[in-house]
Amino acid sequence: MTTPTQKLMVNGKDFTLDADPNMPVLWALRDILGFTGTKFGCGAGLCGACTIHVDGSPMRGCLTSLKQVQGKQVTTIEGLEAQKLKDAWLEHNVPQCGYCQAGQLMSAAALLKTTTKPTETQIDDAMSGNICRCGTYPRIKAAIKSASEA
Ligand code: FES
Ligand code: FES
Repeated sequence: MTTPTQKLMVNGKDFTLDADPNMPVLWALRDILGFTGTKFGCGAGLCGACTIHVDGSPMRGCLTSLKQVQGKQVTTIEGLEAQKLKDAWLEHNVPQCGYCQAGQLMSAAALLKTTTKPTETQIDDAMSGNICRCGTYPRIKAAIKSASEA
């Protein structure tokens, strides 16, 4: 029995891989394609470490299968453009250990794409699914505000 061929577009490039269509995109990104910026945390949709964009919307890479992204644009932290947001992250020294930060940035970027001047509540709502065990939440919020005002 042959493994089905999956076609993926990641960060604007086309990839073809022999993989089970039910494989989580996170596995394919990290273990097959080498996009290791996207992290594995809980594997159960609870922590946000694996957040990617699918056609511009934030999705959990650990819960999204390859078959769900066929014909769609996948963006990982390696392909995230959001320069103002990245600058604000540096300005506010947001990361500590860094493990959650790719997911945080992907969620924040998705928020600013749809809501250019988010309120505190909108920021809280958009970021509520991203856990940071280092407690960088106040700096994350400050950086998102800065980026929205830049
Ligand atoms: S690893 Fe996907 S939400 Fe935690
Ligand atoms: S910076 Fe360490 S988990 Fe968020």
